Amino acid sequence: MESQESFSDAARSVRLDVRLPRHNGDFDQDREFCSVLVDGTWRDIRFHDYAGIYRIPGLYEKLFHDILDCRSPDVVGKLLKEQIQRDGVAPSSLRVLDLGAGNGLVGEQMRTVGADHLVGVDITPEAGTAVERDRPGTYDAYYVTDVTDPPREVADALAGARLNTMSCVAALGYDDIPPSAFRAAFNLIGDGGWIAFTIKDRFLSADDTSGFAALISACEREHVLTVRSSEHYRHRLDVAGNPLHYVAIVGTKERDIPIDLLP
Ligand SMILES: C[S@@+](CC[C@H](N)C(=O)[O-])C[C@H]1O[C@@H](n2cnc3c(N)ncnc32)[C@H](O)[C@@H]1O
Repeated sequence: MESQESFSDAARSVRLDVRLPRHNGDFDQDREFCSVLVDGTWRDIRFHDYAGIYRIPGLYEKLFHDILDCRSPDVVGKLLKEQIQRDGVAPSSLRVLDLGAGNGLVGEQMRTVGADHLVGVDITPEAGTAVERDRPGTYDAYYVTDVTDPPREVADALAGARLNTMSCVAALGYDDIPPSAFRAAFNLIGDGGWIAFTIKDRFLSADDTSGFAALISACEREHVLTVRSSEHYRHRLDVAGNPLHYVAIVGTKERDIPIDLLP
């Protein structure tokens, strides 16, 4: 655990010059970008260019956590911890699948909660490289794969991992994780397991175009997911300093999501 903290600190302490653009804040999160000084040249990098961000050590932490004050890993970790405490569940019994694991901040949080076994999955190869570089040892296993169509050996390893908890933080909707991948990961968790995720509040509203509002409400209605606690909170600031609000949800899985619940 000590070495994980020191690697994380090392990633955070890298000296990086980052500038945010001046604008009136009227474009959506997936079009935000920053400028980073790399080898003497300012480069614009879109926030959703995860590969570009992970390639630069410490940039993810500096941008989202130090500058834009992202709270999501802490919020979901706290919500999950409080709920399992109320239920008298030992944290060490958690066997977590972290979907959209990125460079391991949520994995670190799940270790703080007390999870004993931790598997990360992300579709971006640079995420796997970054987690090895910045937080080696955080995950017992980490797969760079599309969870809807993993290679046979990965499918077998995931199916055999006796997973009883899913975490998914700041990764649903936009061009990131679609409902089909959420379903595939959810269905790897044993019945009665924990589902802990965060999602932009708009994606659970009547204005949703991501498909998650329909999916989550159908999961509740059809007794696939029982929501045990939730929190509407400030995920982070946008580039203009305005708050971006998300919802953190912790629930229990009752059964697999049937295919016909997909939007
Ligand atoms: C904003 S980052 C969040 C990373 C991490 N969960 C955190 O909170 O620090 C979103 C992550 O989702 C991953 N992602 C996007 N689409 C995905 C998919 N279909 N399957 C798995 N991961 C995906 C990206 O590669 C990226 O690492």
